Amino acid sequence: HRILLLGPPGAGKGTQAKRLTDEYDLDHITTGDALRQNKDMETEYGTPGEFMDAGELVPDPVVNEIVVAALENADGFVLDGYPRNLDQAEFLSEETDLDHVVFLNVPEDVLVERLTGRRVCDDCGTNYHVEFDQPEEAGVCDECGGELIQREDDTEDTVRERLRVYRENTEPVVEHYREAGSLVEVSGEGTPDDVFENLRDVVEN
Ligand code: AP5
Ligand code: ZN
Repeated sequence: HRILLLGPPGAGKGTQAKRLTDEYDLDHITTGDALRQNKDMETEYGTPGEFMDAGELVPDPVVNEIVVAALENADGFVLDGYPRNLDQAEFLSEETDLDHVVFLNVPEDVLVERLTGRRVCDDCGTNYHVEFDQPEEAGVCDECGGELIQREDDTEDTVRERLRVYRENTEPVVEHYREAGSLVEVSGEGTPDDVFENLRDVVEN
């Protein structure tokens, strides 16, 4: 399977991508995680972290390079967080075909609540939520015992800016796939288990 997961910040792309990759033995290609691991890398545009902490997009050449390298080594994959503008979508279409393009749809008020309450494992990146997805022991990752932290871009002001950037740059990408007839829309509301069931139906049909 070559799956593209589209959706606004906080739609649950990372959460569902992890489930899909575990279930179908796929690679998880996520520009967000890759950039977080290289936040301080010097590029001709500055460091990725300067853009990310402000909620802005990292320049295309930096992100495209990450995706090319990841696709080279991937057989089946879930792509999450890319493409985020029409230029990236065009670039991607020259690099690979896709079997499923899925749009996780979640209303904006729910997104803000999810993102400001998110906690992530500092070691393995697993997502939690202070209300909706708590670990067994407070502040400790179930998967690896790592410490749970809040992402720097999950403050309310930066979340609002990320949503603005999404509407301006990424919604046209969703429309692009919709017009091409390849978009399948899945509700991202309900529990993570509910959403995953819906995704399974899409992937297996
Ligand atoms: P990135 O890391 O891609 O962030 P994002 O798109 O804003 O997405 P998120 O990770 O915030 O949300 P998600 O949809 O994965 O939701 P999650 O599963 O975590 O990008 C970060 C930054 O990197 C960008 O701002 C940009 O600067 C840069 N960047 C990345 N890619 C780029 C690109 N291609 N081009 C340029 N720049 C790029 O869930 C959110 C929360 O909700 C969690 O707490 C989770 O536990 C909870 N939750 C999940 N599902 C449910 C549910 N069903 N019910 C209740 N709670 C749920
Ligand atoms: Zn962990």
